[in-house]
Amino acid sequence: MPAPAQFLKFVDAHEEDFIQRLAKAVEIPSVSGDPAHREDVFRMASFLESQLKSYGVETKSVPLGTHKLEGKELQLPPAILGRIGNDKGKKTVLIYGHFDVQPAELSDGWSHPPFKLTRDDATGRLYGRGSSDDKGPVLGWVNVLHAHKALNIPLPVNLRFCFEGMEETGSEGLDELIISEAQKGEQGWFGGVDCVCISDNYWLNTRTPCLTYGLRGITYFKVMISGPAKDLHSGVFGRMVHEPMTDLVLLMSKLVDVNGNILIPGVDEMVQSPTEEERALYDSLDYSIQDVEESAGGKIALATDKASVLMGRMRSPSLSLHGIEGAFYGAGGKTVIPAKVSGKFSIRLVPPQTPDNVNPLVVKYLNAEFKKLNSKNTLTIEELHGGKPWVEDHNHWNYEAAKRATLEIYKQTPDLTREGGSIPVTLTFAEALRVNVLLLPMGRGDDGAHSTNEKLDKSNYIEGTKLLGTYLYEVAAGQ
Ligand code: BES
Ligand code: ZN
Ligand code: ZN
Repeated sequence: MPAPAQFLKFVDAHEEDFIQRLAKAVEIPSVSGDPAHREDVFRMASFLESQLKSYGVETKSVPLGTHKLEGKELQLPPAILGRIGNDKGKKTVLIYGHFDVQPAELSDGWSHPPFKLTRDDATGRLYGRGSSDDKGPVLGWVNVLHAHKALNIPLPVNLRFCFEGMEETGSEGLDELIISEAQKGEQGWFGGVDCVCISDNYWLNTRTPCLTYGLRGITYFKVMISGPAKDLHSGVFGRMVHEPMTDLVLLMSKLVDVNGNILIPGVDEMVQSPTEEERALYDSLDYSIQDVEESAGGKIALATDKASVLMGRMRSPSLSLHGIEGAFYGAGGKTVIPAKVSGKFSIRLVPPQTPDNVNPLVVKYLNAEFKKLNSKNTLTIEELHGGKPWVEDHNHWNYEAAKRATLEIYKQTPDLTREGGSIPVTLTFAEALRVNVLLLPMGRGDDGAHSTNEKLDKSNYIEGTKLLGTYLYEVAAGQ
């Protein structure tokens, strides 16, 4: 059952309203990882809740308690739950999305102020932090509600919503809420849910829409090395004391090799090698070495064949070194020995890896390697956040509905992908509600989520809104 023509027409006719809605959202710098922006995440929650309410959704703003960030005790932003429709004859779809964003500063190298939606009419691009990850897609659902209310046509399915404001910093508190709502059964906010749809991912490239049936998990570490009571002069103390920075750089160099192999014993080994059949699956995706090198902005791919490169992202774990807190990084040649430095790294996980079975291997290895250095400094290991990987059955009616919807809107059969990124609560939805979960993207592979000049193409926003709406009609139509 394709979406009614009047819905599709309405979306085209209200392009400007929808862009204004996105502009308002981008203007709220809801950066969850920065305590200075916590108020803004709350403001964004209120904005979204009022939008949902204005289109007839019953909502609840659920407090999630407090947490510690940069040594400060902070209120977690609320989750926004919603429901509309209670027709026993219709399917019930649960929508998840996040309204927080990654940090962004003009000085990082943005061409436009990151928290002002900037339109480039020549290219049809809408620039701004969160335009693609994940405010555009979240507002895509609001646009669908808007159209149905204005046209006075019933939604084809019952809808339930779960929006959060902490996804970019590990979704703290949300697992517990999902599990407790699931345990309430029919009485809970997720009672009667038949499937879940998340629009928080991207096409693999800039040409071919996709459906995503897997995400990697993550485990994030902070390793601190301390020794001196304060920063020291290298001319006075150099070669007289154990230096924390030297120890840390040596330790971090033992984690991963130049080809991406993880050097922590047992971690890569947990994952089975691909069969020839599986390799062929990756070979069939519309992707090339040129695509990865173009989106990375450098000729730096780890392999020369596309299946290997894609498997690196989709079905292998990876370990990335992110930064060193406390190190000297300013201009000039300061001759300091930093007193205390913390190295940050994370491992993206694939089944059967989880933070629970990987973290002990990491901790054991770090301690053993540090011991080998024979340093008198002190090593402290902190596990920051984590999330389990997720892989779904894509031969399900939920995916079939999304396939038909994609074909109707884009006239193309979507690629089936697994993704390298993480959305910590995806597996929680699947396990707690025992239903199929689908990732249905709005944006393209070159949107630059988390990067400078993040954008969403206007056509992806508008056609994406039609896609989300059409998907609901296809779910209603069934097999
Ligand atoms: N939208 C992304 C997840 C994603 C990334 C999907 C790449 C598909 C491809 C999400 O907002 C995100 O960035 N997640 C974090 C989670 C982490 C902080 C626990 C990530 O993957 O780094
Ligand atoms: Zn996201
Ligand atoms: Zn993100």
